[in-house]
Amino acid sequence: MSTAPVAVITGAGRRLGYEVSLALVERGYRVFALHRTHTDEIDFLIGQGVTALQVDLADPDAVQARIDDIVRDTTSVSLLVNNASTFETDAQDPRQRPAQAARLFQINSTAPMQLMHGLGPALETAARACGRPSLIVNITDIFTERPNPQYGAYCASKAALANLTLSYAALLAPDVRVNAIMPGPIGFLPRHTDSQKRQVLSETLLAREGGFHSVVMQLLALVDNDFITGAQIPVDGGRRLAQGMARHGQGSPD
Ligand SMILES: NC(=O)c1ccc[n+]([C@@H]2O[C@H](COP(=O)([O-])OP(=O)(O)OC[C@H]3O[C@@H](n4cnc5c(N)ncnc54)[C@H](OP(=O)(O)O)[C@@H]3O)[C@@H](O)[C@H]2O)c1
Repeated sequence: MSTAPVAVITGAGRRLGYEVSLALVERGYRVFALHRTHTDEIDFLIGQGVTALQVDLADPDAVQARIDDIVRDTTSVSLLVNNASTFETDAQDPRQRPAQAARLFQINSTAPMQLMHGLGPALETAARACGRPSLIVNITDIFTERPNPQYGAYCASKAALANLTLSYAALLAPDVRVNAIMPGPIGFLPRHTDSQKRQVLSETLLAREGGFHSVVMQLLALVDNDFITGAQIPVDGGRRLAQGMARHGQGSPD
């Protein structure tokens, strides 16, 4: 039987989730890569020995089914990374806003809560087996503290996840540590225009995009330093300090 520590990550099929999955494979983890879309990156991860599980986090029954799959396969999980999220501007039509908010909250905060809760016993089992607390990392956003009003529902759903981070840090202590990483502009989306990028970088003290590795490094630091729990750590090049960030609007929470 494999003695490798087990990690579970959501949104593993591209960008940050993929980079985190690769870094954890390199660290010797057995990785469960949860993904909605089957991408070339998922095929590559499978080639690295990763177990790929398809799930739409918008569906609570599907999330529970994947939790059941994982705990049938392993009784012990050392690391959970809630990375997946849906990021969109608020619907123009106010009649569509309740349904949109419900979907964003389900994907960005309720599904992570379900995973923290459902995998909690397996995280505790891993901690007791190795004498070191397990770890949950929730990927939130600097806009949990200063929302961008054009992305109100997205920002509120990430703020809910930030708050859940604190509840679960208390609920699962001392066997499981629960922390949040709050990214700023780590990787623009293809849809961002040059002018939006310039605007965001002009509001970022370090005046550059951080890259996904900036979050990967912080995540690995949290793995190594087991005296941190209930922390919300910005990895944002100082963008959260920019005055008027939320006023501009034509940028984005990235
Ligand atoms: N990029 C930035 O600069 C930035 C800034 C602030 C915060 N963040 C946070 O950092 C994290 C990663 O950022 P990113 O740029 O890599 O995000 P991204 O490119 O938007 O990727 C999001 C991931 O979440 C998955 N996902 C979305 N909805 C899902 C659903 N219903 N069920 C299952 N999976 C779903 C996507 O899968 P599909 O491929 O199927 O769509 C994708 O793998 C996110 O939590 C984001 O909010 C990023």
